[in-house]
Amino acid sequence: MTTAQPLIRMASVSKTFGEVHSLREVNFEIGQNEIVGLLGDNGAGKSTLVKIITGYHQPDPGGTVYWKGQPITDLDVVKARKLGVQAVYQERALADQQSLWRNIFMGRERTTFLGLLDVNRMQHETRQLMTQLMGFTSTAVTPDTSVKHMSGGERQGVAITRALHFEAELLILDEPTMGLSLSETAKVLDFVGDIKKAGKACLFIDHNIFHVHPVADRIVVLDRGRVAGQFLKGELGLEELVLELRHVAETGSLRSGAPSA
Ligand SMILES: Nc1ncnc2c1ncn2[C@@H]1O[C@H](COP(=O)(O)OP(=O)(O)OP(=O)(O)O)[C@@H](O)[C@H]1O
Ligand SMILES: [Mg+2]
Repeated sequence: MTTAQPLIRMASVSKTFGEVHSLREVNFEIGQNEIVGLLGDNGAGKSTLVKIITGYHQPDPGGTVYWKGQPITDLDVVKARKLGVQAVYQERALADQQSLWRNIFMGRERTTFLGLLDVNRMQHETRQLMTQLMGFTSTAVTPDTSVKHMSGGERQGVAITRALHFEAELLILDEPTMGLSLSETAKVLDFVGDIKKAGKACLFIDHNIFHVHPVADRIVVLDRGRVAGQFLKGELGLEELVLELRHVAETGSLRSGAPSA
């Protein structure tokens, strides 16, 4: 049954850079329509894990990445994108000087039967996405608004919307709330809820468990390149999670010992 397969699974994946062991025999998976929160200190290996899933780095020999149950060899950036893996990077995601509609359709422009840019259609679709997905109610922002006038949370929303609109199956958000205000952060967390509602999966990385806990179905804790533990959200309240994380930081393992879930 393909539906029971996780969307993506890493089996015994290690990544070394010279003497640095960024990931050590990591077993990790993301289910279909699952929101997985990834927590860990600076240098725990979170971004390295992302870069393996997005095909930017290849795992050391011995590790395997599976997509819907099939092992993928030679996963590279192009292949990962084709599978439907989309990383959303706040800084690099958008072209500042361009309008909102141009940003949404960048590289995937709609054309008329004559091969000309179908600007009306792209503006129209952008307006629909703004109300349906991004929840923009303000009339100050239109499809023609330049992205540089948008706030950090709005920009993040545009990047996520674009990925959803173009059929990403797995969205990866690596520290999407970095540098954002409280209200902007709340917006980004709402967008993660939209990913869930759209039936897609998400890997959500953040230092702050108060951001991760409300939106994640499952939380995975990385510590010095190892999976120190994982929890289904229903299993563990926020306060208990705080205690567990403190314990992981001090000892490298969960209070209960072996990884759960
Ligand atoms: N290209 C690289 N070359 C050498 N070392 C690297 C490389 N990429 C990552 N590392 C090292 O691997 C370890 C894990 O780094 P990684 O960026 O994955 O951590 P992180 O959990 O994302 O940290 P942060 O929370 O600071 O973003 C660190 O010790 C880092 O210095
Ligand atoms: Mg990182």
